[in-house]
Amino acid sequence: MKKIRLALLAGGVSSEREVSLDSGTQVFEALDKDKYKITRYDPKTDLPELVMDAPAIDAALIILHGPFGEDGTVQGLLDLLDIPYQGAGVLGSAVAMNKLIAKRLYDGAKVPTPPYLSFSMTDKINIPEVVGCLGLPLVVKPACAGSSVGMTIVQRGENLEAAITLGFEHDDTLIFESYVKGVELTCGVLGNDSLEALPVIEIIPGNSHEFFDYEAKYVAGETEEICPARIDEQTTLKAQELAILAHQSLFLKGYSRTDMILKKGELSVLETNTIPGMTATSLFPQSAGVGGYSFPALLDKLIQLAIEENKRTNLRRAR
Ligand SMILES: Nc1ncnc2c1ncn2[C@@H]1O[C@H](COP(=O)(O)OP(=O)(O)O)[C@@H](O)[C@H]1O
Ligand SMILES: [Mg+2]
Repeated sequence: MKKIRLALLAGGVSSEREVSLDSGTQVFEALDKDKYKITRYDPKTDLPELVMDAPAIDAALIILHGPFGEDGTVQGLLDLLDIPYQGAGVLGSAVAMNKLIAKRLYDGAKVPTPPYLSFSMTDKINIPEVVGCLGLPLVVKPACAGSSVGMTIVQRGENLEAAITLGFEHDDTLIFESYVKGVELTCGVLGNDSLEALPVIEIIPGNSHEFFDYEAKYVAGETEEICPARIDEQTTLKAQELAILAHQSLFLKGYSRTDMILKKGELSVLETNTIPGMTATSLFPQSAGVGGYSFPALLDKLIQLAIEENKRTNLRRAR
């Protein structure tokens, strides 16, 4: 059988560069070398080579997180080059990357999310009004970031100013969200038209972490992850339904992973990741494993879905 010529994109220029490089290496190691002829590209340095090689590339795996990778920019370049790639297209990637736009779309699809306000750099922020509206604690997060970068859980009004300053170092738009204290869950979805929800994972950051912050996410042993989550069947089904609804409401394709919090039997959706972490032990591959997909089988499936989805994108091309 002829090998699929695969471009593996990892690295990039976002604050999640190191995570991406690590994932890229693990994905490279897991891919079946009898099926794929793999070339690695780091968008930070190798975009000219990618463009030059495009006619000889059958598919790409975008293992990039955050802006300039997960946000539709790289997806747009690959569309122009007619290279199939896994996961969401330009539209879905862009709207899911922006937590403010995502929340508006969730609202339209009746996906429950915590109450929020948003501000841009030029807005005057009335702190007592914000606290009066959302209560304390509240969460300040940059609209377009990931891995909990630039995010603060504000316990007292007088700490809001510092949280705002930090947030604006990462984006020109911030979201202020009511803090929901509960059990943290995440649920993966796989498929293009016919969607399969994967087993739900329960996330328990270690005691030294106030929330699922950067270290809790990436330092081994800092967080306990339990799959399937210790929740009843009805709540499991509800979480899976919400993950599918969130995926659809943001116009996503291929796969996604929706983060949520369970409080007193009610689920609140925090966000949907369009390129979830892809080390062999990351959340999505972990739950895919419990759902019956080994890491290499999951990568095969994503590539197969990518090639299938590319046919639909190409309907828009003039013949
Ligand atoms: N409204 C909230 N209530 C409670 N915890 C939150 C809230 N928003 C975020 N968090 C905590 O911060 C983490 C990261 O937030 P999230 O919205 O998933 O952004 P990202 O993962 O893209 O940085 C969550 O996993 C959770 O631990
Ligand atoms: Mg998250």
